[in-house]
Amino acid sequence: TGCFTYDPGFTATASCKSAITYIDGEEGVLLYRGYPIEQLAEKSSFLEVASLLINGELPTKSEFASFEHEVTHHTMMHEAFKSFLGGFRHDAHPMAMLVGMLGSMASFYHNDLDLEDPEQRRLAAVRLIAKVPTIAAACYRHSIGWPLRYPRNNLDYTTRFLHMLYEVPSEPLELNPVAAKAMDLLFILHADHEQNASTSTVRLVGSTGANPYVCVASGVAALWGPAHGGANEAVLKMLNQIGRPENVQSAIDKAKDKESGFRLMGFGHRVYKNYDPRAALVRKMTHEVLGQLGVNDPLLDVAMKLEEAALKDDYFVQRKLYPNVDFYSGIIYKALGIPVEMFTVMFAIARTAGWVAHWLEQQDDPENKIGRPRQVYTGPANRDYVSMDQR
Ligand code: CMC
Repeated sequence: TGCFTYDPGFTATASCKSAITYIDGEEGVLLYRGYPIEQLAEKSSFLEVASLLINGELPTKSEFASFEHEVTHHTMMHEAFKSFLGGFRHDAHPMAMLVGMLGSMASFYHNDLDLEDPEQRRLAAVRLIAKVPTIAAACYRHSIGWPLRYPRNNLDYTTRFLHMLYEVPSEPLELNPVAAKAMDLLFILHADHEQNASTSTVRLVGSTGANPYVCVASGVAALWGPAHGGANEAVLKMLNQIGRPENVQSAIDKAKDKESGFRLMGFGHRVYKNYDPRAALVRKMTHEVLGQLGVNDPLLDVAMKLEEAALKDDYFVQRKLYPNVDFYSGIIYKALGIPVEMFTVMFAIARTAGWVAHWLEQQDDPENKIGRPRQVYTGPANRDYVSMDQR
């Protein structure tokens, strides 16, 4: 097979060197640029984390002010996007719309984009962080037939997004600060996770020198699947199907039966063989947020019962399957009034910060080469063509 290793799923292959995020899967440790996720979750904001991921250091007050100013300056989307959006059926999945809309950004920013110029690369990264929430909110409003809202640039990043999502003309939006804080925290937890499937996709596309907007569109596509970011939507659907704590055991039994094709959504992780530190934070936060918002969701009881039963079950214990970040996040999104089809879009907004940080790092990397894995060929040996009348 030549001098290369067969490694399906790249479980034993480091595809690049990176100084952005560190994970110790055995110990359940996650650091962004060296800072523990627990500290960032408690003390930072999503936009500050985005700046940290891109630039490598926590910003000073004035660096943050200019980053925030720059991001805010780029929140608008081109008016022509509206007619593009109008072409989607109202029932199109928002992730499908997001892939298309981000891909189309390359048509707005391509001809004069000089990827050799670091300043232009940085600007593309800022534009993506700034515009993804605007586009995401537009996709949602299109799906429910509401007129689009323009970004209110006097608000902070996450509050602005929630306004674009929910604001109704002529009615001032009374946004509960608990909601904005919870959303910002979820954005921090989802901002980066080293070489996961979507980030690796962004890097693979980026390795060819493609336009950064299509690199990120390809990341959104990879994120959509239920094994990756689509898990948050799948978890909520699963919890709804289970319905009541009494039904938990039969769901566990089904997940253990390989023939069923059913897995416990929100459980297991390629890297974490311990409790996902993000899941621990979301779990704690779910109780707080639901309490503060005065929401009593019976699905939380189902989720807690499911977690408890799985963590005691030999099948899950032996395979070191713990709840991951997406096990509880959907319950919070639901409490914030986010429709279930938008859950993975929320993940995409946050992960855009990580994707662009990796894309920038890659473009700067002198060792960057086109990503081109090999294969183990299993097809027929060399044989002669047989004409159709002889077959
Ligand atoms: N339910 C039941 N069994 C499972 C599950 C699960 N959720 N996850 C893994 N297993 C079993 C699997 O069948 C296998 O068993 P065996 O050794 O007997 O064949 C063993 O555990 C190892 O699983 P794997 O599929 O080889 O592990 P992987 O590293 O390839 O997959 C995963 C990781 C996350 C895709 C997988 O655990 C899974 O499908 N989980 C459910 C989907 C999910 O929650 N995804 C979100 C991941 S976190 C958010 C993100 O970063 O995207």
